[in-house]
Amino acid sequence: MSTGGKETPVLGREASIQNAEARKRRIGILLSGRGSNFLAIAGSIRAGRLPGVEIAVVISNVAEAPGLAAARDLDLPTAVFVSKGRKRAEHDADVTACLQSHQVDLVCLAGYMRLLSPSFIAAFPHRILNIHPSLLPAFPGLEAQEQAFAYGVKVAGCTVHFVDEELDHGSIVVQRAIPVLDSDDAESLAHRILAEEHIAYTEAIRLVASGEYEIRGRRYVKRTS
Ligand code: GRF
Repeated sequence: MSTGGKETPVLGREASIQNAEARKRRIGILLSGRGSNFLAIAGSIRAGRLPGVEIAVVISNVAEAPGLAAARDLDLPTAVFVSKGRKRAEHDADVTACLQSHQVDLVCLAGYMRLLSPSFIAAFPHRILNIHPSLLPAFPGLEAQEQAFAYGVKVAGCTVHFVDEELDHGSIVVQRAIPVLDSDDAESLAHRILAEEHIAYTEAIRLVASGEYEIRGRRYVKRTS
């Protein structure tokens, strides 16, 4: 998905300009757990840091996810599609249909503990963002903060990237780095990375929603003309 030459931005500039007043960018949040990144995004919208963006729906594959309860408390539209025991393609087809019925422009994975099927990704080309708690391509996969701490890196951080068919792999939109302190343990490091995640996701959504970018090869770059 992210190889080859220039690609048109997903939320193209023309559409972005034409629709800026008519219609807000609608994001769909997918989460499986506590939902602190979702809440940070919701907080940014409330605080006016993401003008022209609204949350269309919050979807979880886990009925008891605290993030889902938080979305209900905020009176946002929510949906649950329990994934346990279901075939990936069938489950993903339900989630895709739900996102489409809510007219979602951009899908934001926020602690969504599922790999997406190829047909899901194809339904939202360059329109799915994920946040990962490491400076990719270092430490993909689970427990990235612990991996980084155990490796002994001196700089850690987080990455917001487009989702393609490989794990934690698509074009990088935003990274934020922090020093690893001698006094850190894995928990304190994860805590400080999380604070950066909350800033990074808002920044990435703002950039992508603007449509003012292009993908060159793997590189997300700001459009200059
Ligand atoms: C975050 O660390 C995120 O980077 C990773 O899963 C965690 C989700 O945390 N993908 P939260 O549910 O947003 O609090």
